[in-house]
Order: sequence, then structure tokens, then C-alpha cells
Amino acid sequence: MSKRKILVTSALPYANGPIHLGHVLEAVQTDIWVRFQKLRGVDCVYVCADDAHGTAIMLRAEDEGITPEQLIDRVRSEHKADYDGFLIGFDNYHSTHSPENRQYSESIYTALRANNRINVRTIKQLFDPEKELFLADRFVKGCCPKCRAPDQYGDNCEACGATYSPAELIDPRSTLSGATPVERESEHYFFRLPEFTDMLKAWTRSGSLQPQVANKLSEWLDAGLQEWDISRDAPYFGFEIPDAPGKYFYVWLDAPIGYMASFQNLCDRSDYRFDDYWKPGTDTELYHFIGKDIINFHALFWPAMLSDAGYRTPSAVFAHGFMTVNGKKMSKSRGTFINAGTYLQHLDPEYLRYFLASRLGSGVDDLDLSFAEFSQKVNADLVGKVVNIASRCAGFVVRGFDGQLAEQPSNPALLAECREAADEIGNAFEQREYSKAIRQIMALADKGNQYIAEQQPWVLAKQNPQDPAVQAICTTGINLFRLLMVYLKPVVPAMAAKAEAFLNAGELTWSDSRNLLLSHRINAFSPIMTRVDPASIDALLAASQAEVKQAVSSPEPANSPEPASSPEPVSSPESEASPVSKEPIADEIEFSDFVKVDLRIARIAAAAYVDGADKLLQLTLDLGLGADGQPFQRNVFSGIRSAYKPEELEGRLTVVVANLKPRKMKFGLSEGMVLAAGPGGTDIWLLSPDQGAEPGMRIL
Ligand code: 2FM
Ligand code: ZN
Repeated sequence: MSKRKILVTSALPYANGPIHLGHVLEAVQTDIWVRFQKLRGVDCVYVCADDAHGTAIMLRAEDEGITPEQLIDRVRSEHKADYDGFLIGFDNYHSTHSPENRQYSESIYTALRANNRINVRTIKQLFDPEKELFLADRFVKGCCPKCRAPDQYGDNCEACGATYSPAELIDPRSTLSGATPVERESEHYFFRLPEFTDMLKAWTRSGSLQPQVANKLSEWLDAGLQEWDISRDAPYFGFEIPDAPGKYFYVWLDAPIGYMASFQNLCDRSDYRFDDYWKPGTDTELYHFIGKDIINFHALFWPAMLSDAGYRTPSAVFAHGFMTVNGKKMSKSRGTFINAGTYLQHLDPEYLRYFLASRLGSGVDDLDLSFAEFSQKVNADLVGKVVNIASRCAGFVVRGFDGQLAEQPSNPALLAECREAADEIGNAFEQREYSKAIRQIMALADKGNQYIAEQQPWVLAKQNPQDPAVQAICTTGINLFRLLMVYLKPVVPAMAAKAEAFLNAGELTWSDSRNLLLSHRINAFSPIMTRVDPASIDALLAASQAEVKQAVSSPEPANSPEPASSPEPVSSPESEASPVSKEPIADEIEFSDFVKVDLRIARIAAAAYVDGADKLLQLTLDLGLGADGQPFQRNVFSGIRSAYKPEELEGRLTVVVANLKPRKMKFGLSEGMVLAAGPGGTDIWLLSPDQGAEPGMRIL
């Protein structure tokens, strides 16, 4: 049988926000699978990239006063650093804004067009007359046409569940400028997806999808597919469509092509050959790991495009569920939104890798990161079971026998059982049934601990540290530990590297489960994994909440992707907290914390628009007289432009945090914060003091 050759991808994260634990779940799931394959000697290559196009990225760059290219370069290195922190072993991490991606996007589009798969027709869409751009559904808000709930997005109502078009909203407004959108016509390019119905029916039933996913797709296919709008009007950050000036490929057209682009970029620097993996009829394997919210893109649009443009279709698409944190949806307003970088500042990445492995199966169920269970699992399993075996045995071998393992273990049957488990554990990894693999590994660890506890080498060693029985028992224990580390290596690679240094016998591979380490000198043992410190979890949660508060009060755009034109409501981490009523009361603070906040009355002496910032006003605040008897003024940038015109503010009194550490923004230094309340948009109310208040007065 020829050697398996596999190309694996995880979904490409958007370049408009940080990596969060939802991304980490997917990357860890993929990475474990890839590491497992590599450990078994399979030629498995793992590529990913940043998804760098779309309106959201363009707007964010504009808000930050930088070019989209500068933004995506910065974010790409931040993303890569976070993934490195979680030990994700990509073979290449590229960008969809790359020459390779432009080339493949253009050539695939050209092939579709030549095959008469592209339809051009005029559609009506809402247009923001101030920003001068067409508005995707999530950039329009208004009252629900069914239940009249205020502040609903342009596609569906969170209050009553109704779906509608943005033009049906009552009192619609652009979330970008606050302006009332107008309807405008524009030519759009459509991919004739319905023509692929038969092909997709066959493909979705060919075993390439999980059963739950295949069933869902059957429903969509039976209900009938619609043509897919693949163009967007300028201004847009992306690739211009070759034969359509002023029209750009919709971000979701070139995103999956980014898998090819990243691989091509790797081929250009290595012996991998692009055609080996992408030509029809190849016996190489192609797998996409994705979240269940983007199944339609990967299991409908993508295989249809690939087959029509003369490429192979994926061997399989593996969808996973969402992550919840302490039983709740990852949400900024609940403080359960945890960024990867924040986690890494407080906790060991391998704690999370292990916990996720212990919970992940091959299905699409959601996975709860309960921090109580997280600690319990890591402490009881990795530290209490696996490390414990080595730490109980190593000292006796090192001290009594100069580190030399015995020629024969005391319990070959136990070790044989552990070795024979390799196939079953390997199958579980192969099938992405990691939780099953972990259960089997831990059952072996339990047997090992039980055996050592029964043999009590410490009792024997007390009588005679050189008793050969001690050496043989500990040789059994250390070999057991070694086999466990072989099986755990895809999950906890850094821990495995420390175990390799201790075992002093080179890198562990899966085939090492066939042999034992005998008559061999090991090194002194140092703890290779320590218990979870509960204080670190508290610190992580507090830091995550603090970040969210900062994000809510900062004028930055929502860290949320462009809307997916999905046949089902997309469920992804909430984009941004806004309505006050949804905001939980924050954790208690001490009186001593409160009094640190110097709240003052300020008169808004001047207010002005800020060039290049849609959400900000620049306020000059008059705070009375300073300690030197001179007028005391502060410059503050405040994200209240959607609610106030500068001329409405001049002369008004408001409340300000006067001792907030000055923050350097790209427009200048912001030296305080004005206090306001409200759900956002045009509904932001500055806190105004009663009559009699004077600038500079401290609020007590
Ligand atoms: O949903 C997302 O975050 C997208 N950026 C995923 C793209 S995956 C692939 F198609 F590129
Ligand atoms: Zn409604």
C-alpha cells in the first residue's frame, strides 16, 4: 500500500479581530489529528491562513487610520503568535490577500464563467448615502416589522425570530453612520448553484460528511438551492473581478480558495506538488476542519466550485460544535468571551489542549469549558495519574541504580496490555473520537498507579535501595509512563518533549508503543506538569471581563465577521454587547477601588468631528481651575458621534472620569472619559449633572 498523503486545513480566521477560545478549539482539534498522523509516519501537511478580505476589515482599518494591508499584516502576526502559543503546528500560515490567492480566485472564476455558471443581474440593496457604500444586512438596524422590537439587525429579529429583508425594517438606519439608508440598484454576479443539485446530492451522501451534517444538507437540497451572490460593489477590500471593474469577489468566494493558496505558497518552498493534492482522481486526501456555522460554504458552494473548475472535491469536511464557557454561550456581555492571548498570559496551553481532547468527539455537539471540570481533569489525570507514575518511580531508579532501568520489567503482562491498546487508541484518534482515546489512556494509567501502589517500591527501597525488585517495579512504572506519553503526544506535545528529555531515548513515535525501554539510563525527573492554580483561573476571568469592558467603552468597531449568507441563522460568538438591559451587573468592587475614580463635572468647551473616525468626537473639557490656579482643560475622544452633533454639545455640563490614565490614540492623546448610558447608535445619553453644578466639582 502506498504511503498516505494528507492535506488538512482549519477554517481561516478573520483578520479583523483576535483569536479567541472558539478558534483555539478548532485549531487544537485539527492539530491533534495532524500530530497523530505525523506521529504514525503519515505524510500529513497542515495549512491555514488569515481571511483578510471584506467590508469589516476595510472599515476597521479606516477607523484605525491605517491601510487594510497594514491592518492584516499586524493581525496576521498576532494570530500566528496566539496559535504558536497553543502549540498549533501549521506547516504554513498564509493570507487570502496574497498573489497565490488572487491567481487561483481569478482562474477559478474564469473557469466558472467559461462554463456558463455565472449569472449577472441587477438587484436592489440598501445603501448608506453618508458612507457611500452598500450595506450588508448586519450593518442595518431598525424596528422589527413583525413585533416592532427596536434595534434589530437587517436579516432577523432576536426578539421574535422573524426573518425579513433589511428594506422591511421600520425606521432603518445604517450602523456605520446612523444615516437612513436608501435603496439602490446594482449589478451583481451570481454562481448558479442550483445547477449543482444532483452533484451535491451525490457528494453529500458519499461519506464525506458526518451523518448529522449530511441530513441537514439533504433538507437544504430538498428545499431547493438558490443562486449565490459572489460579487460586492466598491469600496470593498478584496480582489476585483477580472472582467467587472468596480466589482469585487465576495470574501466567501476567495476564502476557501485561500486553502489552495496557502498550500501553493508551501509548494513553492518545498517538495510538495500542488497537483498531487488538487487534481481530480488523486489518491491523496483532503480534509477541512470547520465550525458547524460554515457548513454551507464548505459542503455546498466549495465542492460545486471545485468540481466545475476542474479540481478534486474534499475527502471529508469535519464540523465541530461551539464552545460555551461555564455553561454559557461565549459572550462579551457576559464576560465569557476569552481571547487566546489572555488565556496564555495566565494558564498553560496544554491544560486546555488536554481538557478539549478529553471532551471532543467526532460529532457537532457543543463543548462546555467548565473551569471547575477543567481543573479537575488536568489535576486528576495529567498530574495525578500520568506524572504521578513517573515521579513515584524515577527517584528510586536514579538514586539506587544510577538511572539504569532493569533488563526485565516486573510486570510484562501489564506492559503488554498497554502496548496492545495502541490500535484501539489509534483508531479513536483517527476517527476524531479523542475523548474515547483519553478514557482508554487514563484507564491504563489507573492500572499502572494501582500496580505501583500495591508493590510499594518505597517500602522495599527503604529496606534496601539496591533491591533488584525495586528496579524491576520502577522499570515497569517508567515504561508504562513512556507508553502513556506516546499516546498523549498528539495532545500534549510540550509535556511529551519533557518526558523525552527525562527518558533520554530520543523522540517518541507511535511505533515506540511496540517496544520497551530496558537496560537504559534515564535522566533525573523534574515535574513535567503542575497542578492548575485556581488563582490563575480567577485572574484569567477577571482579565477577560476587563478587556470586554474596555472594548464596550472604546469606539472601535465590532469584532465580528461579515454576515454569512447562510441558509440557517448563523450562531457564533456574540459580536458586541450593547443593550443596557442585557448587561449584567459587574463583580463587586471594594469601596477603596471606587474612591480611586475621580469623577468631576466638566463643561464641554468645544466639540469637533475627528477626521477619519466615524464614531468619535473630540471634546475639549473645562474642569474649572487646576492646582496652579490656571484653567484646567482636558482633551477627550469620545465614541458618541452617532448620537450628538458637535454644536449640540458645546456649553453642556457632563460627568467625566478625570484621573483616567491618558490613552494614546491615533488621533491624539485622550485624557479622560465622559460618562454616558444607552444601547448605542443614536441612543446615547451623556450623564448631565443637576443645576448648580460647576466645572471641576468632584462628585461624591
Ligand atoms: O467564519 C469564519 O471565521 C471565516 N473567516 C472562515 C473562512 S474558512 C475558509 F473558507 F476560508
Ligand atoms: Zn420581532
